[in-house]
Formats: sequence, C-alpha cells, structure tokens
Amino acid sequence: MEDRLIITSNPNKSVSESDRSALVIWGKSPLNGHVTISGAKNSALVVMTGALLCSEDCRIRNVPSLVDVKRMCQIISALGVKVEQNGDVVDMNAQEIGTSQAPYDIVSQLRASFFLIGPILARLGEARVPMPGGCAIGARPIELHVMGLQKMGADVQLAHGMVHARVKGSNRRLQGARIYFDYPSVGATETLMMAATLAEGETILENAAQEPEVIDLANFCIAMGAKITGAGTNTITISGVPSLHRVDYSIIPDRIEAGSFLVAGAITHSEISLSPIVPDHLTAVLAKLREVGTQTIWEAPDTLRIIPANTIKPTDIETLPYPGFPTDMQAQFMALLSLSEGNSVITETVFENRLRHVAELQRMGANIRVKGNNAIVTGVPFLTGAKVLATDLRASAALVIAGLAAEGKTIIQGLHHLDRGYEKLEPKLQKLGARIQRVQNEAEAEALNLTV
Ligand code: EPZ
Repeated sequence: MEDRLIITSNPNKSVSESDRSALVIWGKSPLNGHVTISGAKNSALVVMTGALLCSEDCRIRNVPSLVDVKRMCQIISALGVKVEQNGDVVDMNAQEIGTSQAPYDIVSQLRASFFLIGPILARLGEARVPMPGGCAIGARPIELHVMGLQKMGADVQLAHGMVHARVKGSNRRLQGARIYFDYPSVGATETLMMAATLAEGETILENAAQEPEVIDLANFCIAMGAKITGAGTNTITISGVPSLHRVDYSIIPDRIEAGSFLVAGAITHSEISLSPIVPDHLTAVLAKLREVGTQTIWEAPDTLRIIPANTIKPTDIETLPYPGFPTDMQAQFMALLSLSEGNSVITETVFENRLRHVAELQRMGANIRVKGNNAIVTGVPFLTGAKVLATDLRASAALVIAGLAAEGKTIIQGLHHLDRGYEKLEPKLQKLGARIQRVQNEAEAEALNLTV
C-alpha cells in the first residue's frame, strides 16, 4: 500500500496582479455576432480529481484556461502526479501519488480541491486534506462528504483544520454502502461517487445531485471502466471495480458561461448566437428568459440564437438544485431584472450569503431591497456606470452585464474572482462589439476613455 498523503496549510492569499487590475466598460453598445462557449469549469475541476482514480494516462479535452484550473494543476502536481495543460488539453498520469504536501495557500483558495479526498482515499486508503472552509457565498460545510466516507468504512477525524480519513480493515479498501443525502449536494455526490468506483461492493447514493457536471464526471469514470448507473437521476448506483484504465475524454461546454452571455444579449437588447450548448442544460435559464420576453431559436443542435425584446418583463426566480434554476445564474438575472418594467422577487435557497452583489448594483442605480434570502427588485429605466467591486465569481459576471447596459463608464475591480471562472471574457465580448478593456490599475481605469 502506497504512503499516506498529507496536504497542509496557510490561509494568507497573496495580492495578485488581477487584484489591482480593473475592467473598464463603456455601456450601451449593442452586441452582435457569435460567441464560442468554453469547457465547463465545474466539470473540468472535478474530472481532474477523478483522474487520480486511475494509474494510467488520462487525457482530458476542452478544459478552459482558468485560474481555478491552473490551481488544480498545481495542487495535483504537488501530490507527485504528472499533470500538464497544453491549450485546452490536460494530460495526467497518477500512477504515482506521492506523499508530497500540496501548498496550503493554493488548496485554501480552491474549494473543489477538497473533492480530491474521495479518489485519494480510494487509491491510498488514507488521505489528509485541509478543510475547505467557508467562502464569500456561504459557510460551505462538508458533513455530507464526511458522513458518506464514514458509511463506506473510513475513520474520519477533523482536527487542526485538516480532514484525516483512513480506511480501516486489512485491505484498506472502502466498502460499498447505501448513502442518503439530506441535501442533494453536488460536491458530496461527486466525492462519494468517485470513492465508490474502487470500493468493494455496491454503493447507492440516494437524493443525489443531478447536475450535468455530475453526469459528466460519471461518464468520465465509466470511460475509464467504472460501473455507474443512474447519474443524472436522484439515485446513483456504483459497483466498485479493482482498477480503472487509460482514457481520452472531452468535457461538456459551460452552461453557466453560456447563460451569462445569453443574459448579456437580453440586457443589451442584442441578437447574438452561441455554441456549443447542450439544450437540456439550460432549460430553467431559457424558461426564465422567455418569461422576461426574450426569445431563443436553435440554429443547429448545439447553436442557440437569442432574439431580444425591446422591454424586459419582471419575473420571480427561486434558485434550486438542478433541474431547478441554477444559483450560479442568480446574480446575472438580478442585473437583468434591475432594468425590467416591474417588480421581481429573487429567492436564493442554495447558498446563505449570495446576495452581496446587491450593494454594487445599487451603486449603479438599481432599486433592490433585501429581506433575508429574498431580493425584491423594482425595475428602473436605466443604470449608470460606477466604480464597483466584485465580491465573488458570479457577482463579477453580473457587474460586467450591468456595465454593458449602463449609461457611461463602469470600472470593475476584484477581477481575481472573474478570472477564476470565465475564459477570455473581454476578447469574447470585444468580438461581439462591446467596449470593454482591462487595465493594470485604478488610475489607468479613471483615465481611460472608450467613447471613441
Ligand atoms: C458546486 O459547489 C459548484 N462548484 C458551485 O459553483 C455551485 O454553486 C454548487 O455546486 C451548486 O450548484 C463546483 O462544482 C466546483 P453543494 P458545491 O455541495 O459542490 C450545502 C460557481 O459559481 N452543503 O451542492 O460546493 C452547501 O453549504 C460555484 O461556479 C452542506 O450543507 O455545492 C450549500 O449551501 C459556486 N453540507 C449547498 O449544500 C455539505 O456537506 C449546495 O452545496 C455539502 C454542501
């Protein structure tokens, strides 16, 4: 049995360049043309952790170039695993999983790295991973992950900011189990599905998450020889196998990036087309776009064109686990509904602290009142450009979208959030005709004039 794995810790985040840089947007430019959607961040990250289940070559395609992906590469490489990203291809070989320590400061900045505990425990019979801790949008507890691993026979201790999991028993192999989730957590479903692929016997995950990224991870594991059925439903069954084999897999397009561009088209009353898109992945988003008056037509099985309306109707939104309305699109729709002709109520049920963009949208003239996890958005005739600060990944996208529709100049800072999840956002928007530019610092942003 290989040595146990240790990952340890230092929460201080260095002030990166993107903390000082800013995006300058000159609003009111109609968009037009076509935008290509990148691979899905939330699939790429977990599929990369899934490759640690296999001791042979894994090639993962359509991987976006994002800060989070780079961080995951750094963490995986610090574990002694071969990993290399060339363009949108990541090659990995986890024949060796060393005991090297991953730099805590990177682990603490990437929650998804916690999902590593599943594959490492399944491969090594032991793992120590820093607790991911909370983030801007919520406490983000992990008790469902821990509960599931304990059900599969692991002894899990939480101490000194670390989660230390060890598989008891002579062969130190996880055991299949029946696991019911009190909440259909995406991460817990993914962690335990991965752990179960190499476990002894059958595991049944009940009230499991049904997100497209969960299905993509299952398909990746199945392509390596895993026995998984029911991914995409609320009951997933995994029959453990002794080992997995090499794979060449292409991940799904990013439905949240696609949704963000659709909202950018709707708020600027612009006709744009997007591809590749998987139709089913956007059902709830397209339904809400129809309710605000925007039409969409499929020009090809994976290509969507948005036909904007002259006015934006109000509508109510409640975020829910898939196939409900995605919490990762809540902020973007709040920006859109800020310009609607009436009142909308947005209820955030998935994360307890995901309304921090309200204050920044108010700075741009939006009329929004918050009551608990509800935001009451009263539409205004126009937004005005302002200096605003991104507070998390999707909040930053909402501010870009509001800036595209606002009168005058918007300056957005806190871009380290945006860079975590949107690949080449400025060039993609510039290609659609947006007047948007990234500058090195605030002074440059103040001085920049994009009217010409
Ligand atoms: C994934 O996070 C995504 N991240 C999130 O995207 C997304 O918002 C979320 O799923 C919901 O769709 C990645 O895939 C890397 P959860 P995850 O476990 O897995 C609670 C973005 O913007 N919970 O489904 O962490 C939890 O606190 C990001 O790209 C527990 O209580 O989400 C939250 O309130 C943000 N106990 C809710 O469940 C647990 O053990 C949903 O969390 C686990 C979760």
